[in-house]
Amino acid sequence: MAIKNNSRAVHLCFVWLLVSTVSLQTSDGHRWKKYPLRKPTRNLVLYFHDVIYDGTNAKNATSTLVGAPHGANLTLLTGKDNHFGDLAVFDDPITLDNNFHSPPVGRAQGFYLYDMKNTFSSWLGFTFVLNSTDYKGTITFAGADPILTKYRDISVVGGTGDFLMARGIATISTDAYEGDVYFRLRVNISLYEWY
Ligand SMILES: *[C@@H]1O[C@H](CO)[C@@H](O)[C@H](O)[C@H]1NC(C)=O
Ligand SMILES: *[C@@H]1O[C@H](CO)[C@@H](O)[C@H](O)[C@H]1NC(C)=O
Ligand SMILES: *[C@@H]1O[C@H](CO)[C@@H](O)[C@H](O)[C@H]1NC(C)=O
Ligand SMILES: *[C@@H]1O[C@H](CO)[C@@H](O)[C@H](O)[C@H]1NC(C)=O
Repeated sequence: MAIKNNSRAVHLCFVWLLVSTVSLQTSDGHRWKKYPLRKPTRNLVLYFHDVIYDGTNAKNATSTLVGAPHGANLTLLTGKDNHFGDLAVFDDPITLDNNFHSPPVGRAQGFYLYDMKNTFSSWLGFTFVLNSTDYKGTITFAGADPILTKYRDISVVGGTGDFLMARGIATISTDAYEGDVYFRLRVNISLYEWY
C-alpha cells in the first residue's frame, strides 16, 4: 500500500513538472509576441560636461574623487587597473548643444564609479535637475556604462515635474574627452512612459 502511494505521488509530481514547464514556455512566448516594444513617446538629446578635479583646477572642476582603493591618492584618478575602485561625485552643467560655454539648462548630479580592472567600465547613478524655460523637473538615470563602447544604454528609472513617472532608456555616447580632465556625454533620452 505504502509503495503504491509513493509511486502515485511521484507520478503526480512528474505531471506537475511537465504542465508547469509547458505553461511557463507558452506564457513567455505569448508575452513576447503580444507586446512588441512600442515607439518612444518622447525623445530629447542633451549634453553634460564633466571637468574632473586634478589638483590644479579647483575653480573650474565639476567633479571630484571621493573614494579610491586603499593607499591611492584621492587627488588624481588611479593610474593603474583602468581607474578600478575610484568613485567620483559630480555636479555637471547640462547644455542643449555640445558647447561647454552654452547657457546651461540644468545640472547633472550624481556619481560614477570604475568597476572593472581589465577595461574601462563604470557604473552611473545620477539625476538631471532641469530648470529652464524648456524643461522643469528631474530625470533619474542608473546603469552600467561600458565606456569604450560607442553607444551605451542606461535606464531611465524615474522623473518628476515635466517628467513625472518617466520610464525609458537613455543612449549615451562620449562626445569628447581630454585625458583625465574633461569629458562630455551626449544623452539621447527615449521615454516610453511619463505623465
Ligand atoms: C574649464 O575646463 C574646460 C574643459 O577642460 C575648458 O574648456 C575651460 O577653458 C576651462 N575654464 C577655465 C576658466 O579654466
Ligand atoms: C597626491 O598627488 C598630488 C599630485 O601628484 C600631490 O600634489 C599631492 O601631494 C598628493 N597627496 C598625497 C596625500 O599624497
Ligand atoms: C528655477 O528657476 C527659477 C527662476 O530662476 C527659480 O525661481 C526657482 O527657484 C528654480 N527652481 C529650482 C527647483 O531650482
Ligand atoms: C535618439 O534615439 C532614438 C531611438 O534610438 C532614435 O530614433 C533617434 O534618431 C535618436 N535621435 C538623435 C537626435 O540621435
